[in-house]
Amino acid sequence: MKKHIFKLLAFSLVALLAIGAQADDGFFSREGKYNGEDRGKPVMPTQLNATWKQECSACHMAFPPGLLPATSWTKLMTGLDKHFGADASLSAAQASEISAFLTKNASNRWTAKTAPLRITEAAWFKAKHNEREVASNVWKRPAVKGPWNCSACHAGADSGDFNEHGVRIPK
Ligand code: HEC
Ligand code: HEC
Repeated sequence: MKKHIFKLLAFSLVALLAIGAQADDGFFSREGKYNGEDRGKPVMPTQLNATWKQECSACHMAFPPGLLPATSWTKLMTGLDKHFGADASLSAAQASEISAFLTKNASNRWTAKTAPLRITEAAWFKAKHNEREVASNVWKRPAVKGPWNCSACHAGADSGDFNEHGVRIPK
């Protein structure tokens, strides 16, 4: 009898922890294992940087710093001349100013060893945008352009609002 109560307690504790972490917007793999990849909160700081806003929104939206860990931003900022097939080079002063802003406001809850260069390569991104949520042919629609084009479906993306209730997939 005692053993059963203990098992029940242990089970409840695990369940509570899981629910707690989920409500906390943590991400669990299909096997139920927490993989430590997490967006900081809020993903967009209240204090923005003008140089970042101007230079990093020339070809796409200025991605909120909290969507990647600091390691990712550091890697990305040291390879701007070969930036996903584009040349996004900046002066050394601008690059270091932007780098400081991005790393300071990077995800503060990313405990996984992963440090992808793309937001769209992160496990949390793939989980939130699985085939059921966004069918693979949807990404190729002219109005969508690609997974990197957050604002096509998330109207509040520019201000860091990705709430699922604001999602509208263009036809
Ligand atoms: C000259 C154009 C250009 C500029 C300027 C530019 N980027 Fe990009 N960026 C691109 C292209 C092209 C891609 C790849 C889009 C695709 O997948 O087709 C990209 C992709 C990205 C991605 C990955 C998106 C994903 O798929 O998850 C990040 C992160 C990113 N850029 C950050 C930045 C930052 C930070 C700056 C400012 C320092 C910047 N970019 C400035 C052209 C640019
Ligand atoms: C083709 C449309 C589309 C694009 C483009 C897109 N998303 Fe999403 N996103 C969705 C859908 C659909 C969901 C799931 C909504 C739901 O759970 O009901 C989602 C969910 C999310 C969530 C979770 C929201 C929540 O409340 O749990 C985040 C965060 C997110 N997207 C970020 C991004 C980022 C960052 C980008 C760009 C790098 C992006 N999305 C690009 C359609 C898109």
